Amino acid sequence: AAVTRYEAEDATISRGAVESDHPGFTGTGFVNYDNLTGSYVDWTVDSPQARTVTLTLRYANGTTTDRPMDISVNGTVISTARPFNGTGSWTSWATNTLTVSLAAGNNHIRATATTANGGPNVDSLTV
Ligand code: GCU
Ligand code: CA
Repeated sequence: AAVTRYEAEDATISRGAVESDHPGFTGTGFVNYDNLTGSYVDWTVDSPQARTVTLTLRYANGTTTDRPMDISVNGTVISTARPFNGTGSWTSWATNTLTVSLAAGNNHIRATATTANGGPNVDSLTV
């Protein structure tokens, strides 16, 4: 099926900033999560019908410490403290994929930092 990219910088951001100082992102930048628990990016994804899809989160983590995030769909956490391990540098972008069920119509996909380190830098979500 066709893949659509949803940029993090175009999503709803709570306690994070759009930045562009680490190259390799798509679009115009990425989201630098504030380094605290609870910071999130929330994407709205419209689906023509209920269906199972693969989500791909593109991210960079220039530290050697995991930056786990809860991944929720329409308010239900479907992956708790999902690992976003170090990628080697802030300019080394990696992907993290998971399979989820979407409802017909608008869906909210949220990635919320679960530790005081905040999330990794997040570039995009593809569906
Ligand atoms: C650095 C880096 C940021 C990153 C931050 C962090 O400041 O430049 O892009 O978000 O570290 O540790 O979260
Ligand atoms: Ca950060």
